[in-house]
Amino acid sequence: MTSEKIVLIEGDGIGPEVTSAVTKVLDAAGANIEWVKHHAGLAALELGHDVMPQETIDAIQQHGIALKGPCTTPVGEGFSSVNVQLRKKLNLYAAVRPVRSLPGVKTRFSDVDIVIIRENTEGLYSGVENEVTPGVVMSMKVASEKGCERIARWAFRYATQRERRQITVFHKANIMKLTDGLFIRQAQLIHQKEYPNIQYEEAIIDAGCMRLVQDPGQFDILLLENLYGDVVSDLCAGLVGGLGVVPGANIGDEQAVFEAVHGSAPTIAGQDIANPLALLMSAVMMLNYLADTTGDSSHLTVGEKIKRSYDQALADDAKTRDLGGELGTAAFADAVIERLNG
Ligand code: NAI
Repeated sequence: MTSEKIVLIEGDGIGPEVTSAVTKVLDAAGANIEWVKHHAGLAALELGHDVMPQETIDAIQQHGIALKGPCTTPVGEGFSSVNVQLRKKLNLYAAVRPVRSLPGVKTRFSDVDIVIIRENTEGLYSGVENEVTPGVVMSMKVASEKGCERIARWAFRYATQRERRQITVFHKANIMKLTDGLFIRQAQLIHQKEYPNIQYEEAIIDAGCMRLVQDPGQFDILLLENLYGDVVSDLCAGLVGGLGVVPGANIGDEQAVFEAVHGSAPTIAGQDIANPLALLMSAVMMLNYLADTTGDSSHLTVGEKIKRSYDQALADDAKTRDLGGELGTAAFADAVIERLNG
């Protein structure tokens, strides 16, 4: 197996703890990776760099792939989100977030197996905000034909490759007739012209969320524009045990950045209590992506071994506190490592 160079961004808050736990598991599992460390977020600012250093962007473009810890964004003031900047600058237009019920993690439902596909570059996250007149501000929601079409095509292709049965689009096109109207129209077109065999359904997002919390087992793939995808990702995390167990990938045509759905969780940072599993699951997605892009199936084997081991750890009740267990961040990583050769 040839060694792969992968950019590692530790991020802020719980980022350094969870990335350290995850790289330890990957090394122990025999993933042949050479980590190329770069900074972003508050960690970069503290070192005197820009919050989103150009050299970090250049490194991801050069190596094509990164594993990223969460980055803090100030609320209501300060710099704009590093995460949003990164996704836009690298054109990582598809956010993919698999949410599934896990062995040993008791929640209200045991049959959740949903993949959220979120458009990652447009919508209200365009960052175009201004003060119209004192006391009146506005934010622009952007949708382009090209942006809506490419995310719809990406979702249908993913559904076909992964043998998933159905795509449901959550929207609010009854109110935002132009922007959300364009989003569903492009999805309808791609469905009819290119992927008629995948079942297709639309739901107005408010009623869709009600169905989601009542009976999540009825959904397979959810396709959403940017803001809805952000909100519904955390809602779905709540269905399977919380933010500690939901991974993510931001994928474009040239590069991909793998990161958990959760943020930097500053209130629990530095205490060795954060759950590293969401980032570990993101790293498994990264190994699957590497296998696809390099044709080297040994990455798949390593990913499978890690997945089997964390499923087994959870089933054995080796869990972090967010899941009702007692293990710290590093101890959970060790529990996974112990099961790698079991
Ligand atoms: P958050 O996801 O950081 O935390 C929300 C809650 O979930 C907290 O109670 C936290 O303790 C818990 N939590 C999150 N991850 C956990 C883990 N791995 N293990 C155990 N518990 C976990 O969301 P919040 O508080 O809204 O945001 C904090 C910061 O993170 C903000 O600056 C926000 O902008 C940023 N953020 C960054 C993201 C990224 O880098 N992709 C994504 C989301 C938020």
